[in-house]
Amino acid sequence: MIYVVDFGSQTAHLIGRRLRELGVLVEYGYPEQSLESIKRSKPSGIILSGGPSGVYENGAPTIDKKIFGLGIPILGICYGCQIMAHLLGGKVESDAKEYGPETLGLKLSSGIFAVPKKHFSVYMSHGDTVMKLPPGFETVGSTKKVKFAAIQNLKKNFFGVQFHLEAYHTKYGTEILKNFATLICQEVLNPLRLEPEKIIKEIKSEVGDKKVIAAVSGGVDSTVAAYLIGKAVGKNLIPVYVESGLMRPETEIRVRSIFTKLVKANLVVIEAKGKFTKVLKGITDPEEKRKSIGRLYVEIFQQQAKKYRNASFLAQGTIYSDVIESKGSKHASHIKSHHNVGGLPKKLGFQLLEPLRSYYKDEVRELGRLAGLPDEVVNQQPFPGPGYAVRIRGEVTPERLNQVKMADKIVLEEIKSAGLLGKVFQCFAVMSGAYSTAVKGDGRVFAEVVAIRAYESEDIMTSRVAKIPYEVLQKISSRIVNEVPNISRVVYDITTKPPATMEWE
Ligand code: XMP
Repeated sequence: MIYVVDFGSQTAHLIGRRLRELGVLVEYGYPEQSLESIKRSKPSGIILSGGPSGVYENGAPTIDKKIFGLGIPILGICYGCQIMAHLLGGKVESDAKEYGPETLGLKLSSGIFAVPKKHFSVYMSHGDTVMKLPPGFETVGSTKKVKFAAIQNLKKNFFGVQFHLEAYHTKYGTEILKNFATLICQEVLNPLRLEPEKIIKEIKSEVGDKKVIAAVSGGVDSTVAAYLIGKAVGKNLIPVYVESGLMRPETEIRVRSIFTKLVKANLVVIEAKGKFTKVLKGITDPEEKRKSIGRLYVEIFQQQAKKYRNASFLAQGTIYSDVIESKGSKHASHIKSHHNVGGLPKKLGFQLLEPLRSYYKDEVRELGRLAGLPDEVVNQQPFPGPGYAVRIRGEVTPERLNQVKMADKIVLEEIKSAGLLGKVFQCFAVMSGAYSTAVKGDGRVFAEVVAIRAYESEDIMTSRVAKIPYEVLQKISSRIVNEVPNISRVVYDITTKPPATMEWE
């Protein structure tokens, strides 16, 4: 087992993800955890994750220095590398910031750095960096700006990388991790199998013959969660779908078909479009939008739940990245509230059932597929819980909601007809809140700019822009300015995540 000390990086959980893919058991802990508890777990190696702090910052998380005396191999990533260097007598400075892909040049390729090429792309996201090595360390690799981008102390089996080897953008990140696990920690690889039957069995034994209310949004996560529960408890599942008017139009149709045809459950659909429009009136702040939508959702659900007092469980499609992004990790900086995490159960007094809480998105899709859900359901694009509301910068008015829906439909249609739908992770239109001039007919108009976002991603935590052919973009642009009322122009967002999030809000 490899022990990951979580310093709060948004990609910290990906370290575990990569290790799990390789077939290595992982345990997570916080830096404050006692060394005794780490020792008790008997890890073959320790990984210090990245984190949002700087080592000299007030209250920055640190770790007991004695960890370096345990005789256990240690790999530090980004902040983890910096804190290791700092505690062992090196120097960290706020210099040479890098955000995004950089090329790493290796001086040697052996040990954990034995990878197919000496120059390859690595993913960087740091403000600070190691400026002086601690005694016993040597440089193995550098980027243009960062001299100590890969370091090691072979005598002690301590390694450090400034780049995020857990991110997909790092070409040989998994190889380095594998080398650390197998060559240094002597781990034997035993890859995990996804077994929906096992989850169904676990649900059955947890729920027994009690009733389960499931909040379903039509998205992959809540659909797969409720579907597996439906397979386990049949008619004792009551999926509840709140029609907010903020989802893609096909969502309700799909929900109806899955929970009446594929799983014979007692589906409840609540029409609440008017309530959501009303609650969003005048709100421009993204967090306030999310919270208001979340609150209303809870309220509607609460009223509904009263009718099902005999239900014992409340099911939600929470997946691992929701947990992480909602500060599931103690030191992670707060990015945004995901309204599907927390909130509901405390207020409702049901027992919470979250069968997918520890699975990643692609694993959830695979579990759904293996359990019998059709491809168009498991492969559908993720759609944010607060829906179109977070794709409208500023106030959600009925007019702008209509505009974003029309533009979104065009984006989807054109990307689909170009045969690219399967290649993008998400694609959508955003009402940017920016205004520009256009000449339509004989008159000048000053109208809103629509932004298009389309990107590829394997893990939600990182993404790159999809290289949509120019002709397709041109067609989308021309259709949007012509078919959607009051749009002056269309721009294509070419920013990677990080630093930019996928959604604009
Ligand atoms: P960001 O914008 O954080 O998005 O890079 C990552 C993924 O999460 C989706 N997303 C949300 N999903 N509630 C959700 O259920 C939300 O509030 C929310 N915000 C973003 C986003 O579409 C992307 O797939």
